[in-house]
Amino acid sequence: MAARFVCFRRAAFSAWCATVVISQVSATASPREHLSLDANWKFHLGDDWPNALHLDKAGASTGPASAKFSDLSWRSINLPHDWAVELPFDSSADGSHGFKALGAGFPKNSIGWYRRVFELPKEDEGKRIWLTFDGVFRDATVWVNGWLMRRHEGGYHHFREDITDVVQLGGRNIIAVRVDATRTEGWFYEGAGIYRHVWLDKTAPIAIAPDGVFVRSRFKDNVPAETAAIEVETSLLNTLTNAATAVVTCEIFSPAGKSLTRLTGSRRVPPESRETLELEAKLSSPVLWSPESPNVYKLVTSVAVGGKIIDQKETTFGVRTVGFDPANGFLLNGKHYELYGTCNHQDHAGVGTALPDALQEFRVKKLKEFGCNAIRTSHNPPTPELLGVCDRLGMLIMDESRLLGSDSENLRKWDAQIRRDRNHPCVAIWSVANEEFSVQDSAQGGNVARTMQNYVKRLDPTRPVTYAAPEGDVFSGINSVIEARGWNYHPGPDVDTYHAKHPEQSNVGTEQGSTVSTRGIYENDQARGYVSAYGNKTSWSNLPEEWWSCFAERPWLSGGFVWTGFDYRGEPTPYSWPCVNSHFGILDTCGFWKDIAWYYQAWWTTNTVLHLLPHWNWPGKEGRDIRVDAFSNCKSVELVLNGKSLGKQSVTVNSRLTWQVKYEPGTLSAKGFDDTGKMISETKVETTGDPVQIQLTPDRRIIQADSEDLSVFTVAAVDRQGRTVPVAQNKVNFSIEGAGQIIGVGNGDASSHEPDVYIANIPAHTIAVGNWRWKLARISKADCLPEYATNFDDSAWTTLKPRTDGDSGEFVIKTQNTTAIYRAHFTLSEEDLKKPGVQIRFAGCDDEGFYFVNEQFVGESHDWQAQPSFEIKKWVRAGDNVIAVGVKNVAGEGGLNPDVNVDVIGVPERTPWSRSLFNGLAQVIVQSTREPGEFKLTASAAGLGSATAIVQTQPCASRPSVP
Ligand code: GAL
Repeated sequence: MAARFVCFRRAAFSAWCATVVISQVSATASPREHLSLDANWKFHLGDDWPNALHLDKAGASTGPASAKFSDLSWRSINLPHDWAVELPFDSSADGSHGFKALGAGFPKNSIGWYRRVFELPKEDEGKRIWLTFDGVFRDATVWVNGWLMRRHEGGYHHFREDITDVVQLGGRNIIAVRVDATRTEGWFYEGAGIYRHVWLDKTAPIAIAPDGVFVRSRFKDNVPAETAAIEVETSLLNTLTNAATAVVTCEIFSPAGKSLTRLTGSRRVPPESRETLELEAKLSSPVLWSPESPNVYKLVTSVAVGGKIIDQKETTFGVRTVGFDPANGFLLNGKHYELYGTCNHQDHAGVGTALPDALQEFRVKKLKEFGCNAIRTSHNPPTPELLGVCDRLGMLIMDESRLLGSDSENLRKWDAQIRRDRNHPCVAIWSVANEEFSVQDSAQGGNVARTMQNYVKRLDPTRPVTYAAPEGDVFSGINSVIEARGWNYHPGPDVDTYHAKHPEQSNVGTEQGSTVSTRGIYENDQARGYVSAYGNKTSWSNLPEEWWSCFAERPWLSGGFVWTGFDYRGEPTPYSWPCVNSHFGILDTCGFWKDIAWYYQAWWTTNTVLHLLPHWNWPGKEGRDIRVDAFSNCKSVELVLNGKSLGKQSVTVNSRLTWQVKYEPGTLSAKGFDDTGKMISETKVETTGDPVQIQLTPDRRIIQADSEDLSVFTVAAVDRQGRTVPVAQNKVNFSIEGAGQIIGVGNGDASSHEPDVYIANIPAHTIAVGNWRWKLARISKADCLPEYATNFDDSAWTTLKPRTDGDSGEFVIKTQNTTAIYRAHFTLSEEDLKKPGVQIRFAGCDDEGFYFVNEQFVGESHDWQAQPSFEIKKWVRAGDNVIAVGVKNVAGEGGLNPDVNVDVIGVPERTPWSRSLFNGLAQVIVQSTREPGEFKLTASAAGLGSATAIVQTQPCASRPSVP
């Protein structure tokens, strides 16, 4: 039979490549590029390729790990991404992790796959290409172009690989990541997935090593003086096989951007090795960094070889000193500085642990509102972007290790954490661990802590070290070796006894409070999982006034860190299901203030504060006693109900006021007075009417059109007089138009099981391809043969036995080095062709396969374990379609597994977003797209007036990124 047909090899991506080349040949003086790899990932939930990892042969991993894989049916996502937040709640799941259907009992939900395709230009020839993950929860297996690159265990540390050897320049590259979140590390919500940024760095073959710049300021006796010594260490990495002499120039710029000084030195770097150069400058009249004045300097490090700049890197740093003093507590810039700290986990309402940078900033600003000046990153290394925000906005950091350990793996992680974070002026204290109950009092626990502490002293001699110890007057194990004794709880006699016995040791309140309260709730309700906002205690915790009055009176305790600033998912203490969130926060998961935030604002800031609780909507309680509290730093406060004074009380420092008031609707007001009797503040709570109108307030009305920036909307319900109704629980629906997309919703309700995200469903249907026929035939690689033709008559060929479940197919090719051709038909409708994608999936081909659809070559496979899949939309048509596979059996028996499926994939269907108000409030987080212009968010609820708010998205330079 004479068949006329044409074979196409896979088309080159020439047009796209050309744009890549243009955008990536940048005008920077050095070849260094630091590119975001956050956009345009594909994601699939489920371990559908459990055998993808092959350790027998290099580059032979299969399924999504292989370059020959169609991820067409996968969801498109941008990082950071947390799939745990997308999962339903389940009462049988782990409550400490927030009852998400994730972990050991939920294998289908606990493994996820990510893929990212990108091009690299030919001009990158000679550069080193680095791939960095800032954090993946949890165990990650990373492939590049089918090569296994890294197996990283752990959910909080960054990891990096030099992928230069396996990338294709001038071509397509594929990163595949399998993430296994089955095992947990903490006892709190930890998320799942690539929840921090991913970066692609390009450098010259001799360059500044990753995390290779360390800059610090030093003063005599650690007390700032007229002149600061600025010490700069530069680590150089030479990957060449010849030595090179590198000239390093360090230029320091003032916070105002003025060049202050240039230092130069040189170092011969032997082949394939690393060398460090130390330089020192004197800076006169330095502008110091502090939370109140977060002045940052800039260091520009340039490296030249043979007179040509081959690398340049910017590092921000601050000039300041930190330390502890046994008598005076924490010292910042040589003076006692009270730590008004909060411990925080990483998750936020709506987005779980996947926080865009702008949300980090939102959270830090929220903490600062009530006077917080320090964050403990409990109980893990933070994401670097949090540190960047804290440098800029002024917030101290206690940077904590995930685990106590001096084994090589833990020390490697500790080393990486310290090197990465030590330039940040915000980082003030290292914490080696938290509450290591099993080992903390043992000699071995002490040894390990000492090793970790010594490690800090070697890598970062300017910062103190602590350990968060959950014990009282105990001086053994870790407490006996640690520089600053950390106090988790135990305010009271223990601190004095301990201090008297160990006056030479410094102290810090690493974890205090653990007061539990629910925003807007004034009665404990175990069934619904709410605790009253007056504040409650567990067996180990304290009310704010109990721990704080103890610490405030003892400067040597350094102040402390409240457990916690924000509520977080998991640890629903003191309850369990249906409660899924913690109640420890001063703020709820959205950052809405709970009443005790005013306690801290009163005693941690110099603002005049007067706040009353509860709200004044108590129908049915007329004539009954209601407890009314006031948080105030005025000298005295008078309470007035409907114009009638209920008496004046003097305020005791670091305390609160309480009245019992017979309820009558109306206005309950308070007046605050100074010590001369002058009224300096006034506040009121009023009985509101029913909600009539939704109100929508963005925290920012102008944001950047960079697809990263965001605006956080407060949704409220107001009565006829425009007063927020504190008991409104209406369900609110959201719609958005223009240059923005909703990325999460929340309301701070610790027992809400409403979704935080609404995922677009991707409709798809699958056509099983049956009736295979085959024949032994000579084939040669992917060459065109008449048997591949659409109209080839295969009626005389042998029919292949259909595959039965669990069967890998019939091995019809009995001898090695024998070839055969297989053919089958499938039908598509006109409707199918209107859908955006069609892919074909093969369950296996033993050993090599060359795949054709309607005479067109679509791809090949070379491993019997491969399960190749290909996108075939451009080659299919309505009606009959023909698949032909040339198979070569290399060893043993072989053949094509007839389990072949065609998927027709539709347009993602958006689900409308909604969220109920919780005690009057909800939150919507909207992220910009790359379109400058505006977006319009509309909120509506049955029976209430709807609200629309507009946010401008202004043109901006986006973060340099991989296209
Ligand atoms: C502490 C612990 C925290 C958190 C807290 C709750 O002991 O360090 O992680 O569990 O208790 O009160």
